[in-house]
Amino acid sequence: MQNLETIIQQAQADIATAKNLPDLQQIRAKFLGKKSVLTDLMKTLGNATPDERKALGQLVNAAKDKIMGFADAKTLELQAAELAEQLATEQLDVTLPGRHQHAGALHPVTLVQQRVEAIFKSIGFTVTDGPEVEDQFHNFEALNIPKNHPARAMHDTFYFANGNLLRTHTSTVQIRYMKENKPPIRIISPGRVYRSDSDQTHTPMFNQVEGLSIDEHATFANLKSILQLFMSSFFEQDVQMRLRPSYFPFTEPSAEVDIKLTDPTHPLCGKWLEVLGCGMVHPNVLAAVGIDSEKYTGWAFGCGMDRLAMLRYSIHDLRTTFESDVRFLSQFGV
Ligand code: PHE
Repeated sequence: MQNLETIIQQAQADIATAKNLPDLQQIRAKFLGKKSVLTDLMKTLGNATPDERKALGQLVNAAKDKIMGFADAKTLELQAAELAEQLATEQLDVTLPGRHQHAGALHPVTLVQQRVEAIFKSIGFTVTDGPEVEDQFHNFEALNIPKNHPARAMHDTFYFANGNLLRTHTSTVQIRYMKENKPPIRIISPGRVYRSDSDQTHTPMFNQVEGLSIDEHATFANLKSILQLFMSSFFEQDVQMRLRPSYFPFTEPSAEVDIKLTDPTHPLCGKWLEVLGCGMVHPNVLAAVGIDSEKYTGWAFGCGMDRLAMLRYSIHDLRTTFESDVRFLSQFGV
């Protein structure tokens, strides 16, 4: 009896000192486990008389229950403390902004190309393409620019050792298409072109779109009205247009087209801006691809898409469109 009382008090005192659950587990084992004092005590009961054994057994069990009670109470206390500690230190601020998801954006020139294609497709044109490495026939000769013609100098061409070249315009695609298709022809050919030129408004590679229409009654008036329609749809505003006489070997007569934007919010509103070259397809070009120029006439135009992008998005330096600067490019996201 005396012993049991001391053991219970000792256990209670020990349990009170437990700082955490593992600590408490050890103390519990010390008093209640297989090698505990209480278990030893139980074993000695074998020597007692049956009556004593019964009485003592009950006392030991009662002591066990008491100690277990202390331990369980302490367990709850420690668990509550642990939870409170966790809540205090591992708190989550649900008002913090989330991590930003970066969405990609299309390049301004890609956006322009998609727009140009959509507009011309809606009026019955087909989008065509051809190789960027070309021969002199498709880039020059078939376009009425024979060898030693001064117009070749205008093109600042990149040549390969074998005489091939990087196409200087997508008029090459018109030649390829006319060789393979019979009139009526209505195509546009967007794509990369190359000239050895580099400053604020010129880069060695740039993007061009050319248009071609061959029919029995293709006229200059027809060309002008399509260009007018294209300009106002592309810039989504009234666009004034003026044609200045010009020269291209592959068109006769030829003109250069200036436009004036009328939306007062556009920084270039009210200024004449040169945007494209055009003209009636030269009979020599039709002859080079086997189209009868007595029966058919055609018109063509060529336009820089980088320039269209600069105007539509008010980009000041063409070179920024090649720098892959995400701060610049991300402005064009939807
Ligand atoms: N191919 C010409 C150029 O690149 C543009 C053009 C095309 C002009 C068609 C007239 C007709 O400069």
